[in-house]
Amino acid sequence: MNSIGVIGAGQMGAGIAQVSAAAGYHVFLADVNQDVAEKAKAAIGKRFQRLVEKDKMDAQAADVALGRIEAIGSFDKMATAGLVIEAATEREEVKRTIFAQVGEVLGHKAVLASNTSSIPITRLAQASPDAARFIGVHFFNPVPVMDLIEVIKGLATADETVEIVRSYGKALGKQMVFANDAPGFIVNRVLMPMLNEACFALGENVASIEDIDTACRLGLNHPMGPLTLADFIGLDTCLEITNVLFSSTGDPKFRPAPLLVKYVEAGWYGRKSGRGFYDYSGDVPKPTR
Ligand code: 3HC
Repeated sequence: MNSIGVIGAGQMGAGIAQVSAAAGYHVFLADVNQDVAEKAKAAIGKRFQRLVEKDKMDAQAADVALGRIEAIGSFDKMATAGLVIEAATEREEVKRTIFAQVGEVLGHKAVLASNTSSIPITRLAQASPDAARFIGVHFFNPVPVMDLIEVIKGLATADETVEIVRSYGKALGKQMVFANDAPGFIVNRVLMPMLNEACFALGENVASIEDIDTACRLGLNHPMGPLTLADFIGLDTCLEITNVLFSSTGDPKFRPAPLLVKYVEAGWYGRKSGRGFYDYSGDVPKPTR
């Protein structure tokens, strides 16, 4: 497989394009239009440049890698890709529309994958041209830094499909884990209840935002405290995934914390909206309560 397609040039899609190009793949990068894809490519160029400045990448290798990324405005070129990864917004109808459109040009042997964090792979596969060639590949943010890919097999996913993704992940130098298609897969099944519990703890006035974060950062040796991490992921995303865990299992242990719900209702989504548990308007994030 020489080329891959990435649909969605946001934070995750751009990260996937970056690491794929650095690993030697030709990457077709698509978004709602060519202009958005071109802007994402320019931002990837800056990230390669920073790696060069930090002596983590050779300047020529960075130029070659950037040259492997082709920003595209329509899916036609994806006909030559061996693997197409959808990393669009986490809305099922958006993903279904993309699968139908790219499905019209997808090669007969090509694999279609979704970077969904919570939508069942078996259900999404129904919108793809061939459920046997459909699979979940869940990357973590920031993609260039995080070593893991969680691979999720739908009920109809063929073993050959898993093998294609396995060799792709290996080429990227990522560690892979394999999960069955259960709510939250592995990481979010374990992570979201922890972040949600931190919201319960804050709502019940167990401790301040800073102390909850410091406790988990130093007491558990996590790189970020749970409230900082929830802001980093996006509180809307955390709530959405927690709701998937709750509604698909019916288990009350997954019920979302009222404070998390309130913050999302207030539009306080975390870093991306400028305010969540922390205020991001200054140079250094400040706790909001
Ligand atoms: N893109 C690319 N590289 C980045 C980056 C980004 N957005 N943010 C940081 N980095 C790089 C830096 O350049 C630096 O690289 P260097 O060591 O080569 O110089 C390195 O990461 C460390 O960065 P910093 O020194 O600036 O900051 P930290 O040491 O605080 O690390 C962090 C930042 C890597 C984000 C670290 O805090 C971390 O690992 N946090 C946890 C992240 C995490 O848990 N992600 C998973 C979220 S869950 C998910 O994605 C699943 C979804 O379904 C919800």
